[in-house]
Amino acid sequence: MSDRPRVFVSRVLPGGAAPRSPLALLHDAADVDVWEAHTPPSPEALLHRAEGADALLTVLTERVDGALLDAAPRVRVVANMAVGYDNIDVPACTERGVLVTNTPGVLTDATADMTWALLLAAARRLPEGDAALRGGAWGPWHPTWLLGHRVSGATLGIVGPGRIGRAVAERARGFGMTVLYAGRRAVADFPGTFVPLDDLLARADYVSMHVPLTPETTRMCDASFFARMRPDAIFVNTTRGGVVDQPALIEALRLGRIAGAGLDVMTPEPLPVDDPLLTAPHLVVAPHLGSATLETRTAMARLAVEGVIAGLARRAPSNAVNPEALTVGRRR
Ligand code: GLV
Repeated sequence: MSDRPRVFVSRVLPGGAAPRSPLALLHDAADVDVWEAHTPPSPEALLHRAEGADALLTVLTERVDGALLDAAPRVRVVANMAVGYDNIDVPACTERGVLVTNTPGVLTDATADMTWALLLAAARRLPEGDAALRGGAWGPWHPTWLLGHRVSGATLGIVGPGRIGRAVAERARGFGMTVLYAGRRAVADFPGTFVPLDDLLARADYVSMHVPLTPETTRMCDASFFARMRPDAIFVNTTRGGVVDQPALIEALRLGRIAGAGLDVMTPEPLPVDDPLLTAPHLVVAPHLGSATLETRTAMARLAVEGVIAGLARRAPSNAVNPEALTVGRRR
């Protein structure tokens, strides 16, 4: 048997195994086992394939926890091909000396662009217009049909002033918007005004979520959150579905407590077509496409591969989530 490290890759990566693709880079460094299906491995299949691996390259559907790591004792790095890593039990990894990496930065622009796509589509009622046209409901032009909400000159509220929140705020300049932001603290040079969350919700015409999913942010957008928004405001979420209390959002849309919503993320994913969310009015949805451009996904895969290679060499790259794991001592 080869003494090269073994890496389990939980999904087909962009570029396949073509020369200079992210996977080709990995093949140069390790024996690679790829989960070839486009659907995720079951927890049992993941456990089985991880058993003999020295590294895992995962995507956001794979749950990596202490039980998995205990069943896969050789694993010393988990490179998650996502900026969010709520699917990974980081303390369990750190305790076991397992380095975790993610893919920040390379998806910032694509995700900010997607946020704007949803914001504009919800504001200007694009899906309703598209459906009306295709459904034969396009009558003669008249002054009050499908009126949307103004974007230029309006107020945008960013909740979570991280990289993506900042990129969304920067794009608002082109629309001449006032930008407010709320978070744990003010951020140097952020293109907007730091305000308490309550003020942001009371003032913003658009509220866009950019916080990571943590125990603290889980379902933070609840009935009280939506009640504090303006009734003519639009809610946008491109982070994780878990930050939203979805029944509360459905109710807020149904009762007109807010004017609309654009979601790239929801609970569960994939969302069944008969989910009550899809019966809510003034809702634009996308199936978790924030980073879905070829360039971005290729860059994410490359960064994840580099994370695997660094972790196998017991180096912490700048995108290490828990560099302290390297001080815990190497697993066998
Ligand atoms: C996608 O949702 C990511 O976290 O990268």
